Amino acid sequence: MEMEKLVSLCKRRGFMFQSSEIYGGINGFWDYGPLGVELKRNIKDAWWRDMVTGHDDLAQLPGAPAAYEMTGLDCTIIMHPQVWKCSGHYDLFHDYMVDCRESKKRYRHDQIQGRWVEAKGKKIFATAGSDSESPEADLERQALKFFGMRSKNADELKWDGPLVSLTTVDDFEQVLGPDAKSLGSLTPPREFNLMFKTTIGALGGDSDAAFLRPETAQGIFVNFKNVVDSSRVRVPFGIAQVGKSFRNEITPRNFTFRSREFEQMEIEFFCHPDSSQDWYTYWRQRRFQWYQDMGLDKGKLILREHHPEELAHYSIGTADIEYAFPFLPEGEYGELEGIAHRGDFDLRSHMEGKLDPNTNPMTVELNEEGKPKHRGSGKDLSYRDDLSGERFVPHVVEPSAGADRAMLAFLCEAFTEDEAPDDKGKMQTRTLMKLHPRIAPIKAAIFPLVKKDGMPEMAQDIYRTLKKEWNVFYDEKGAVGRRYRRQDEAGTPFCITVDGDSMQDQTVTIRHRDTLDQWRVKADDLSDELRKLIG
Ligand code: GAP
Repeated sequence: MEMEKLVSLCKRRGFMFQSSEIYGGINGFWDYGPLGVELKRNIKDAWWRDMVTGHDDLAQLPGAPAAYEMTGLDCTIIMHPQVWKCSGHYDLFHDYMVDCRESKKRYRHDQIQGRWVEAKGKKIFATAGSDSESPEADLERQALKFFGMRSKNADELKWDGPLVSLTTVDDFEQVLGPDAKSLGSLTPPREFNLMFKTTIGALGGDSDAAFLRPETAQGIFVNFKNVVDSSRVRVPFGIAQVGKSFRNEITPRNFTFRSREFEQMEIEFFCHPDSSQDWYTYWRQRRFQWYQDMGLDKGKLILREHHPEELAHYSIGTADIEYAFPFLPEGEYGELEGIAHRGDFDLRSHMEGKLDPNTNPMTVELNEEGKPKHRGSGKDLSYRDDLSGERFVPHVVEPSAGADRAMLAFLCEAFTEDEAPDDKGKMQTRTLMKLHPRIAPIKAAIFPLVKKDGMPEMAQDIYRTLKKEWNVFYDEKGAVGRRYRRQDEAGTPFCITVDGDSMQDQTVTIRHRDTLDQWRVKADDLSDELRKLIG
């Protein structure tokens, strides 16, 4: 699938627009249009329903070590700044970036790639930025230009070694920046915190600084005690939250894949340390299956286990659910969701002060004066099991998903072109969005075949009845074939047509978006039929 076709359909049909587009847009921010808002809402609702409200607290689900409870929270975006100090985001949540003094552009250090190349007795490190589609070709062009050579002499360039990241190069004096003409224009890498800073109140001093949350998870940790004290949940249980997160990504890209404002759907699952490994295994499988149930092709999904050396020692494991997004090179996958075993790091950090993840067992990180570098809340966040009497700090398994990433994957998966006959029976290329009926923005479209003979009246009655339960759409304008095509592009799974026979026998046709099958049902049975079809 060509990504450009999907991007253009998303704009044309109102799934997504660039934020502030009339002012030229703002990089890394996206708006959801009339169809997009419904699709994204349906994804979040399906997640909430499947993980939280629809969860059977009494049953032991297949693969789960025990029955468990689920509940939810909705926390603020701006929280006490100490939250981010204890969570580690204040000290550790950064990327390294380099600036080009010549082009004034900024790049992520690890995303600049290049090769050593020699000509005319001089050796340089030629580079290409992360947006380069063919880095090798770009490097050759750049090197030829730098050495003042013509393309027919390209074989005089002596390349040394493969394409490597700029992180392998120490001496920046030999580096030719991706958009520079002279050597040594890149600054040394500098830390760049990804949290958006803001100010609370009118004075605006340093003590009023706050941050937009970079993840929803911390709101759950700091409310752990509130939830335990105010509800009757018992460990093991999970708290879910859906909401906006903000990261000042240096290189937002690939449509909404890496945005600066996005939504997360996170669960913090609290369990006894002895069973945390089993819960980790359960959640990996549970979440991996969810994407397939919602329509992603298993062949395009992988569950990638992090290497042991990537893990903090307190973590038994982290696995990413990844999808073969069409904008990635063949064989590469992009992260949809991470499932992390976080041990007791978060609850203990918020109690005692930020722990040093490099200590074993973990101890509070100290400053030069030997005091906690970041003070904790001092509140007791341990849990007492009222049946066994045992008191312990629960371990956490965290399935953390992105609503925008999930939506992008569903859109990529859904985009389809096939051949279908038009009104005159001639085969035409048809574009359709094969969205799962549960997440499709519009569940059914209702058409009178023609605007006369009582058909519009009957179709409007059907529309009003179905509208009580679903987002359905009424359309009487233009040829019926054109109306079908518009709904195919919007991802509407079913079209209901009122025709001449309907006036006689009170039946209507239902047309299936993907198979083009059509069948008749009694108008009175439509709600039951749709309920079965949507699932
Ligand atoms: N609490 C853990 C956490 O936030 P993460 O891997 O940084 O973990 C979880 O983020 C999920 O949030 C990712 O798998 C992705 O789906 C989504 N996400 C993260 N950064 C994003 C961005 N810049 N744009 C869109 N989605 C993002």
